[in-house]
Parts: sequence; structure tokens; C-alpha cells
Amino acid sequence: MRKKKRKVLNVGNVPVKSRSQIDGIRESGKINTAVLDYVQEHIRAGVSTAKIDQWVHEETIRMGAFPAPLNYEGFPKSVCTSLNDVVCHGIPSEDEILKEGDIINVDVSTIYKGYFSDASRTFCIGEVSADKKRLVQIAKESIQVGLMEVKPWKPIGDMGHAIHMYAQSQGYSVVEEIGGHGIGLEFHEEPWVSYVTKRGTGEIMVPGMVFTIEPMINMGTPEFYLDEENGWTVYTADGMPSAQWEVTVAVTEQGYEILSR
Ligand code: MF3
Ligand code: CO
Repeated sequence: MRKKKRKVLNVGNVPVKSRSQIDGIRESGKINTAVLDYVQEHIRAGVSTAKIDQWVHEETIRMGAFPAPLNYEGFPKSVCTSLNDVVCHGIPSEDEILKEGDIINVDVSTIYKGYFSDASRTFCIGEVSADKKRLVQIAKESIQVGLMEVKPWKPIGDMGHAIHMYAQSQGYSVVEEIGGHGIGLEFHEEPWVSYVTKRGTGEIMVPGMVFTIEPMINMGTPEFYLDEENGWTVYTADGMPSAQWEVTVAVTEQGYEILSR
């Protein structure tokens, strides 16, 4: 894609968006959210993850946007679909058919008029075991716990710390080496956003910063391994389930605004 020339202010390495840039990211986020809503309405046992990829691709294009994952650093599909013990970056496949009891994260990233947005949800397919359901619920709640810490002039490490403490208090672990990111004018911008942090550390949040909150919450160990064959798919080391939700959030004068969920 041809890059537009844009005026970007930085605080340290972190780009701070203007009001009109945030307007652009918000419009991208509306499409991003609508695509996830579409997936939520249609996902069920018996569909393949390739079908989810087709939905995401077609709905995104229909709304005049483009799926950011497609060809991103060689990623072959338009969405990440991460099933059960897949932590993230699962690649949709014809051979992977959803069945009752599965949990699956669908991670949608959208480019609209040059603005990027990113959100994901974990869906329960039919009747899911109580412990998997609880994992999905706590992963979802951890986003709210993190959001409560998003305020200008606070260090971003407060947010990650709150999420880590919450997940841990519920008996879960948080993946340490994979995190979120600044977003808006590019897919992945500064800062890198960890959810295993100490209070009082990390970048100071300032109005106009836009980043993702997307902790990966594991039922067992936080350790993982990469599928060396495809170079993308990340699995839990112990084969236990992992769940994730993701929002794109802007820091405002008062606190935060969710730009996609
Ligand atoms: N939300 C994920 C991330 O920020 C989306 C990854 S898409 C991929 O890493 F193309 F990079 F896989
Ligand atoms: Co992301």
C-alpha cells in the first residue's frame, strides 16, 4: 500500500494521534466491530475456520475496507482463528471444523481509508465445559479490569499489572512474551503493550495514544511454542486452553474511548 504523508506527533517513540486521525480510526473500528458482530451471528458447530475467513474477507470488502492480516508479513489469510489450546495467530483451514465444546478466538483487523483497527472475541461453540466457559469469561472481564486503569498521565504498566493480578487471582496465567501494540496509522506501532508488568512502569499514557488491550489468558502454564511448520500458530506448552479478547482504545482527556470491540 502506498503510504500517505501524515503529520504525526510523538511522545518518546509513541505516536499521538490528532482528533481527525482518531476520527479515522473510529470509522475503521466501526467496520471492525461490525465484522465481529457478523461472525458472532453466524458462528456455530459444523463451520470450518476457512468459512470464518471467507465471512471476514467478504464482509470487510463489502464495507469498503481491507483485512489487515492478509499478506501481513506473509500471513496467508484475512483473519486469525485460534481454537482451544491455540494462544493466537491460528490460520483458518478447510480441515478445521468447529464442534460443540470448542472455544475459538476470532481476531479481526481492519484497514479503512488508511486507518487501522483491531479487536477479537472468544466464542463458545454450543455447550462448553464449565471450566472453559469460566476461562472465556475471566479473559473478557480482564479487558474491563485493564480499561479501568486507562487514564492520561498514568503509566501503562498499571494497566498490565491490573490484568495480571486479576487473571492470577482467578487461577489463570497471562502470556508474557506476546502482547498488544499501538495502532492507527500502522497495524503495529509503539508502544508494545504487556499484561505482565509492574505498577508505575512503562510509557505514560497521554490523550491521543491509541493501543490494543489483548491479553492471552491461559488455564495452565503461560509457556507456549510456535508451530515451526507454518511459522505463525502459537500453542500452549501444556495443551490446556487459552482465551483472549481484544479492544482498540484511545486515551482521552477524561479517560478512554473504545474505538473497536
Ligand atoms: N491482533 C493480532 C495482533 O495484533 C492480529 C495478528 S494478525 C497477523 O498480533 F496477521 F499478524 F497474524
Ligand atoms: Co492486535
